[in-house]
Amino acid sequence: MIGRLSGIVSQKAPSLRYRLSLMMKPQVVFVLGGPGAGKGTQCSRIVEHYDYTHLSAGDLLREEQAREGSEYGKLIAGCIKEGSIVPVHITIKLLWKAMEETMKKDERKFHFLIDGFPRNEDNLQGWNSTMDEKALVKFVLFFDCNREVCIERCLERGKSSGRTDDNRDSLEKRIKTYLKSTRPIIELYEKLGKVHSVDASLGVEEVFTKVKAIFDKEG
Ligand code: ADP
Ligand code: C5P
Ligand code: MG
Repeated sequence: MIGRLSGIVSQKAPSLRYRLSLMMKPQVVFVLGGPGAGKGTQCSRIVEHYDYTHLSAGDLLREEQAREGSEYGKLIAGCIKEGSIVPVHITIKLLWKAMEETMKKDERKFHFLIDGFPRNEDNLQGWNSTMDEKALVKFVLFFDCNREVCIERCLERGKSSGRTDDNRDSLEKRIKTYLKSTRPIIELYEKLGKVHSVDASLGVEEVFTKVKAIFDKEG
C-alpha cells in the first residue's frame, strides 16, 4: 500500500515541479517591425489588457546611455544616431536585469514583451547562448509596415520625441539596418512557424483589434 502510494507521489512530484518550473520560467514575446511601425504604441495597449511587462530594448539602451558614469554611453549614442545595432552583451545585460527586477518584485510577473529585439544575428546569437535556457520564446509579433509610413510616423514623432534618430538622415540608416539585418531574423522565425504578422499601416485601434485576436488565442 505504502509502496503504491509512494509510487504515485514520486510520479506526481516531478510533474508538479516541472509544471511549476515552466510557470516560473520567463515567457517572452519578441516584438519586431520597422522604425515607427507602432511597436511601443501597441505594447502599451497589450499591457493594459494582458498580464505582460513591456521591455523596449531601445528604451533600455537610451536609459543606459543617459546614466551618469555608464561605460557604454558613447558607444550607445553613436549606434543610435547611426541606426546601427549595439553589441548584444550590453543589450542582454540590460534586458535580463529588467526581467529579474520585475520578477523579484512580483514572481507572478513572468510574461514579457521584448520590443525591438532580436534585431540582427549578433542579437539572436547572444540570446540563444545566454537566455535560451532561462526563458521561453512563445512567438514573434511582427508589425508589418511599409517604409513610407514608417518614415512619416518617425518624422512626426521627432517633432516632440527629443530622439537623436527621428530625423531623415538617421531614418534612412535605420531602415537600411532593418531591411538588411532585422528582416532575415523575422524570416528565420517565420520558417519555424513562430511569427504572427499584423498589418501595422492601419490605425492604432484597428491594429490593436488584430493584436488582441492573437493574444486571446496564444496568451
Ligand atoms: P516604434 O516603437 O515601432 O518605433 P511607436 O509606437 O513609437 O513606434 O510609434 C511611432 C509613432 O507613430 C508615434 O508617434 C505613434 O504615436 C505613431 N503611431 C503608432 N501607431 C500608429 C498607427 N497605427 N497609426 C498612426 N500613427 C501611429
Ligand atoms: O527600438 P528603437 O527604435 O527604440 O531603437 C532605437 C535604436 O536603439 C536602434 O536604431 C539601435 O541603434 C538601438 N537598438 C539596438 N539594439 C536593439 C534595439 C535597439 O542597438 N536590440
Ligand atoms: Mg519604440
